[in-house]
Amino acid sequence: MSSRILHGSCARLFYYYLMKIGEKMHYEVIIPAAGSGKRMGEIFNKLFIDLDGKTIIQRTVEVFLSDPYCRKVILAIKPEEKCICDRIFADKKSKITYVNGGSERQYSVRNGLEAVSKDTKIILVHDGARPFINHNQIQELVECARKMGSTVLAVRVKDTIKKTDGLTITETVERDNLWSIQTPQAFRTEVLKQAHSWADETGYLGTDDSSLVEKIGLSVSVTEGNYENIKITTKEDILFAEAILKKRSN
Ligand code: C5P
Repeated sequence: MSSRILHGSCARLFYYYLMKIGEKMHYEVIIPAAGSGKRMGEIFNKLFIDLDGKTIIQRTVEVFLSDPYCRKVILAIKPEEKCICDRIFADKKSKITYVNGGSERQYSVRNGLEAVSKDTKIILVHDGARPFINHNQIQELVECARKMGSTVLAVRVKDTIKKTDGLTITETVERDNLWSIQTPQAFRTEVLKQAHSWADETGYLGTDDSSLVEKIGLSVSVTEGNYENIKITTKEDILFAEAILKKRSN
């Protein structure tokens, strides 16, 4: 009798897992990678900096190529850097769709949107400069975008934030509801397309994609991430990146 009960609950657990696996949604990702190395103090694109044997862009792209739920990686690059990418991704060519980057990050993403497959329901936008994203967080974002329409990965602000007039403090901002916004940002396809069309028509330029969605009056939720998902921007970030890699290899 007790073994029958055990069998019954095992079977239920098994079907529950099957359902969970079946529920997971596929997505496509746009990776803007057409920036420069200015803030890094380099004359070349910082994404080609080597991090322990692999370039930054290679590490970022590989996270998505190894995710069975990612149907397509759309990489926005400078046309003159296509030959470098061809070399880096020589054995993964068929899985990457290249589009031309724009003069601003937003335009790189907009160009990427044109390469999204017609039947894709969820799109992620992820900075090429954030190589430490992981599959669990990606799936959490995909699921949240499916339910809510739009979501961004973010971490709580750790420092006290103050506003100034020049160098004089005018206000200490309440920290409880302050977040540092990261990527990936995940959207239902029609939401992101609508937001970018609006930005094109009005000439609005935002620093991320969720700001365009906010501007058209749709709500965007926050998905709590972690502090390892850094954007490699300046020289110090290379030190942090090497430390994260070292920790992960231990
Ligand atoms: O410069 P920053 O790191 O903030 O840029 C975020 C991402 O956007 C980077 O991966 C960068 O390569 C990309 N980008 C782009 N086109 C631009 C500027 C930045 O694809 N014109």
